[in-house]
Formats: sequence, structure tokens, C-alpha cells
Amino acid sequence: MKSCKKIVLAYSGGLDTTTAIPWLKEQTGAEIVALAIDVGQADNFEEALKRALHAGVVQAEVLDAKEEYAQDFLLPAIQANALYEGVYPLLSALSRPLIVEKLVQAAAQIGADAVAHGCTGKGNDQLRFELSLAALAPHLTVLAPARHWGMTREDAFAYAQGKGLNLALKPGTLYSIDENLWGRAIECGPLEDPWTEPPADAFALTAEAAQAPDAAVELTIDFEQGVPTALNGTPMPPLDLIAEVSVCAGAHGVGRIDHMENRTVGIKSREVYECPAGVALIQAHKALESLVLTKDEARFKAQVETRWAELVYEGKWHAPLKQSLDAFISATQATVTGSVRLKLYKGTLQVVGRRSPYALYDTNLTTYGDGDTFDHTAADGYLKLAAMELATLARVHAGQSALTQETHDDRTVVAQPVS
Ligand code: ARG
Repeated sequence: MKSCKKIVLAYSGGLDTTTAIPWLKEQTGAEIVALAIDVGQADNFEEALKRALHAGVVQAEVLDAKEEYAQDFLLPAIQANALYEGVYPLLSALSRPLIVEKLVQAAAQIGADAVAHGCTGKGNDQLRFELSLAALAPHLTVLAPARHWGMTREDAFAYAQGKGLNLALKPGTLYSIDENLWGRAIECGPLEDPWTEPPADAFALTAEAAQAPDAAVELTIDFEQGVPTALNGTPMPPLDLIAEVSVCAGAHGVGRIDHMENRTVGIKSREVYECPAGVALIQAHKALESLVLTKDEARFKAQVETRWAELVYEGKWHAPLKQSLDAFISATQATVTGSVRLKLYKGTLQVVGRRSPYALYDTNLTTYGDGDTFDHTAADGYLKLAAMELATLARVHAGQSALTQETHDDRTVVAQPVS
């Protein structure tokens, strides 16, 4: 272990970060300050701080970062329609750069020379912590106890019990949970078998589809320049709007995801998520964009979104490419203003309406009925040119196959290019 005097520990209250307290003290002799960041996880922070103090930290604090999380991380994710591998709304990946910002600020305030996190050596979260730390505070020593102690979750549990630590979990229910405003990631335990259906006790934010209410519910979401600003006509700050959508979509069983995920380190991992807010808001935002963006913008943006999600997944929140993509995405949001109607029913989510003052949809051009202003004769010339390449190709091939036929017949004629 690298030597240091004072450590700020990113404290979650869970098994790994609680176990890390006595372990780091033994290994480094440093003082430890536990910092819990509230990004909307349904934790009992008071209990967590007591647990950290009992485990031996000199100071334990909780910092409310929910508003910043919504404003600076979730809004950009909505605008980027950010879904890693097309499905995962990046809930863990989005929260880590904010947690790192808070760790770095705390380290400066209390004069710490090191920061510690509870990530293991085979996940993605270590990248998100350490790449953001490299970008923001390369002078700080980074300690990753769970990467070095060589204990399984069961070993860590036994070690923690041996040290007399209070733990919030019982052996046997060894899910690893990461939760925030955007949703919940559930790993480990029975989920490690990709053939096993996630047990009901894995979920906390979403209802089982069959048990969701029998009546469908409709949500209207208003957007201004890509930012959701009102729910069912009531203006709300992003934090409140996201929290309300989460509860409502979750109650209707929307947002469960069961994904075979490609981790950055090259491991395939079975990931179970429940992200009711993320799924609903991204779908609504996409629906509005499809009404107002030009074809070229929409197609190019889809490529940018894939790359943006990969960069964020890989921990490169502060990388120059990610920032350049942010600039592109921001520029596309100027006209993403309008409303979307979502219908939620027993685990399904449907877009059932959209409108915008910037809609590029024009009934006069689209209609097959009265009021059609489309110049049908203009299509004649357009089709002549559009079909020209394929017609040329067909002629060339017809000529070639006639010649090839001749070659076969008398074995002397050499095929000539068609002029
Ligand atoms: N696979 C997801 C990700 O890489 C979820 C990680 C959950 N993290 C955790 N510490 N349980 O973003």
C-alpha cells in the first residue's frame, strides 16, 4: 500500500467500503474520513455514518449532490439518449464523476493526500473513479483496497464480522446494489447465472408487470431545448421531475433491464437494472427529436450517442472527445422543444403523441387526402436520377453475362468491357 497520512474514502455504507475502513487503517496507519454522496439512493445515511464511525473513521459526512446530479449529469444523458449497448442508461457510470468531484473538493478542504474507493479490480467503476481523479487531481494518491485485499464477498463479510463491524446486510442476500436517482443496478448472488430469472427480491423501484395496475396511465412531458421542464402540465425542476417519473413508471413496471453486458476490462457480465426514469425520459426525448431533427442530424446523432455512451461507460467523462461530442449534442437541442405523451401499462411504455412548434412534419406534404400540396410531377425527374445508377449497373451486368456466355460457348472470345 502506498503511504499517506489522511484519506478521504468514498463511502457507500456497503460491505466493501465498510470493510475497507479497518483494512486501510491497518495497511497505511492513516486517518480516514468517510464521505457519503447522496445522489438519490434510498439509503439511511444516518445509519451509514454511524457504521463508518463505528468502523474507525475520524469523521463521517454526507453531502447532498442530488440537484447537481440531475442538472449536470442526467440532463446531458437525456440529451444524448444515453444507452450503453442500446439498453443500459448508465446509472452507475454517470454518478461516479460527480462523486469524484466531491472527493477532490473534500480532500482539498481537509488537507487529505489520498482518496480511496471500494471498487474491485474487474468492474468498470474503478475506471470511472480513477480516470476522473487523473483528470481532476493527479496529485492525489489513489487507494483501491478491494482490488488488493484478495477477499471474496464472503471473505470480506467474515473479515468484517471478525472486526465487529455493523453491516447492513445478512449473509445469503449478497446482491451488490448501486442506486441513485436514475435507477438501480443489481449484481451478484443468483443473478450470476444468466439462465436464472431475476428473483422478485432483486427489485425495489419497479413493480412486476403482472402486478402493475390494470388501468393504463398517461404522462405528458414538456421539453425546452432538450430539457424536460414540466410533467402533466406542471413545471418542475429536473430533480423533482425525474423523481416523479421514476415513481410513476416504476409503479407500472416500466424500466426493468436484463442485459449481458460487455465490461470495459473484457468480461461479459449479467447486469440487472431497474431504471424507470431513465427509460421513460430517454424514450420521450427521442420521440421529440424524431419530430424536429433533420434526417442527417438524426442519423449522425445516433452515431454520436453510441460513442458518447461508450466514453461515459469507460470512465472518460472528462476526456476531450466526450467534451467535443457534448458540444455537438448541445447544438442539436436548440429546437427540441415541445411535448410528448407516454402511455404506461403493465410493464410497457408507448409514445402515443408528440408535438412541437419546430416540428418538421407537414401534413400538407404528408397527406393522401385533401390539402395535398406535394408536387407529384417533381418525382419524375427525381426518380430518373435516383434510379440511374442501378439502371446502369443492370445494363452492365446484362452485357457482361451475355459475353461470359459466349466465352463458354466457343472458348475463344474474351469478354470486353462494355463501352
Ligand atoms: N455494470 C454497471 C456499470 O458498469 C453497473 C455497475 C454497478 N456497480 C456496482 N458497484 N454494483 O455501470
